Amino acid sequence: MKKNRFKKAWLNEHLTDPYVKQAQKDNYRSRAVYKLREIDEAHRLLRPGQVVVDLGSAPGAWSQYLARKLGADRAGAIVALDLLPMEPVEGVHFIQGDFREPEALKRLEAALLGRRVDVVLSDMAPNLSGIASADAARIEHLAELALDFAGNWLEADGALLMKSFHTGYFSQIVTRFKQQFRVVRTLKPKASRDRSAEVFVLGSGLRKQG
Ligand SMILES: C[S@@+](CC[C@H](N)C(=O)[O-])C[C@H]1O[C@@H](n2cnc3c(N)ncnc32)[C@H](O)[C@@H]1O
Repeated sequence: MKKNRFKKAWLNEHLTDPYVKQAQKDNYRSRAVYKLREIDEAHRLLRPGQVVVDLGSAPGAWSQYLARKLGADRAGAIVALDLLPMEPVEGVHFIQGDFREPEALKRLEAALLGRRVDVVLSDMAPNLSGIASADAARIEHLAELALDFAGNWLEADGALLMKSFHTGYFSQIVTRFKQQFRVVRTLKPKASRDRSAEVFVLGSGLRKQG
């Protein structure tokens, strides 16, 4: 009963949401694209010729945005990864796999063909159990892995944009960003629903290690 009411409310919000309508009009697979677009426009993140990795890419709206924005320039590359299958997006090399598994990471790294990465994007969200401490740990684990990947593969002036959540570990995640990047911003784009605990962290320019 309660579940049904929740479903109804969600459906109602979904059907009246201006970003959902806009996504249909612009032929994007999800409203999530407008979060990336807003951040990209404000912080000039993405340019033709870049090598970009899109983590947690399904159903593919961010990949579509990347392909439209960077697609024509053959010097660049877009590599996307998700647990779930994704309909192909022209110009995007998609890998289906679990980012927590070393085997999936290997395939992702192989797809880079030795190139360093300009921008790592992560919109990954773990399946939530409803148990706050377990969920926070899953979010933190994925964040750590994305930070490690960015540390190993980004160009010195590269950037990592990561979706995160205001959970118990959020301040630790931001601290990790500050250890790794010269400039760190936390961002709440308009398309991110107010009541959602979701927040984006953007780190730019790797600090020199050692
Ligand atoms: C909010 S959706 C991404 C939406 C996407 N940015 C778009 O524009 O269409 C989050 C995605 O993260 C993926 N994900 C969660 N955990 C993952 C993991 N361990 N490895 C790879 N993908 C993961 C989910 O399968 C899901 O498709």
